[in-house]
Amino acid sequence: MSVLQGARIVVGVAGGIAAYKAADLVSKLVQAGALVDVILTAHAREFVTPLTFGALSQRPVWADLWEPTGMAAARHIELAAAAQALLVAPATANTIARLAHGLADDMLAAVALATTAPLLIAPAMEHHMLQHPATQANLALLAARGAHIIPPETGRLASGEIGTGRLPETATLLGALRQVVGRGGDLAGRRVVVTAGGTQEALDPVRYIGNRSSGRQGFALAEAARDRGAQVTLIAGATALPTPYGVTRIDALTAAAMRAAVLAACVEADALVMSAAVADFTPIAVAEHKIKKREVASSDGADLVLRLQRTPDILADLDAVRAQYPGLIRVGFAAETREVAAAGRDKLARKGLDLVVANDVSQPDSGFGSATNTVTLFHKDGRTEALPSLPKTAVAAHIWDAVVALLAQR
Ligand code: C5P
Repeated sequence: MSVLQGARIVVGVAGGIAAYKAADLVSKLVQAGALVDVILTAHAREFVTPLTFGALSQRPVWADLWEPTGMAAARHIELAAAAQALLVAPATANTIARLAHGLADDMLAAVALATTAPLLIAPAMEHHMLQHPATQANLALLAARGAHIIPPETGRLASGEIGTGRLPETATLLGALRQVVGRGGDLAGRRVVVTAGGTQEALDPVRYIGNRSSGRQGFALAEAARDRGAQVTLIAGATALPTPYGVTRIDALTAAAMRAAVLAACVEADALVMSAAVADFTPIAVAEHKIKKREVASSDGADLVLRLQRTPDILADLDAVRAQYPGLIRVGFAAETREVAAAGRDKLARKGLDLVVANDVSQPDSGFGSATNTVTLFHKDGRTEALPSLPKTAVAAHIWDAVVALLAQR
């Protein structure tokens, strides 16, 4: 279940052209199960209407603190108390200045003062306005008070210029909210390391030996841990996926690079989940130049013979130096195309793991690239949990449940 299910989120929309993107954010929040109260500033209402947001949130939209019924005035305290997070997106230079200086001249500013919920600010504006020392000082003041500033992105601005000041994608804003809402979760204060994607072993400057891992399960694991309060290091091999908000990503494209990154990241970690598909073999030598068809000497009838050597097993190596990683919970994956159960049990024992997640990657709804996974969990206490076909986010939740239970036993 998403950390946003049933969460009370207040979205404040200020008067910038990116205000139209806040409609998508509200829609996605509602789809994630959140109860969203939207507050529009007077300037935001020049760009977008309360009707847009009311239709999406299916709740009243608060626009004018001073409306004659007095409902809004009474409601701002209620909203402030109920909120689990207040996100201002887009936050304009003007609204940032108002919030930094504690003004209470409209509904949004009044709720921001009255709430004790975390404040998230997503600045979006013309780049000189963003860079102006006044705006930077206001943002620094808000950050010093504990506000989460979601960095604006660089790219084409509404003015047509290229610069920093774009409102981040909805997925980034959702990631920031999920992290903040989940900060007190059952992995709070824990450091976890997740590996994801496949490695690529170079044959020559243009070719490599790779595999079909998409990284989806590993990225889902990283996000799920973040949403439960963990500090997450995501070590990524080859993958096209964007870095989840609030997760520290380290790229490690080869088995050797991944090994070095894992050994370094695990020093102070509580758990390692190795969902990456690490190459078991790597070329003995990398050709300096592109291998040419005509230049390959054909011995014993073969057109090209590749000589490969075993890569060191990262998980097994960690077991060998267990003393350096006291208490580290280790979770391995077994991606198999036959005899999945036997392979899972074998890996658990051979690599000294706490948990093995085994899946049959020959099944269409399971493993590489698909959104779902059908896995069996092999626990070190002998229990076996065969899960039905589930979204990779749900598989991730089961894996962290098992890790949380193991951490409690340490
Ligand atoms: O032995 P096998 O490669 O099937 O084991 C898979 C598990 O071991 C995965 O969790 C994978 O990330 C990990 N592994 C590793 N180092 C390797 C190869 C695989 O840690 N060189």
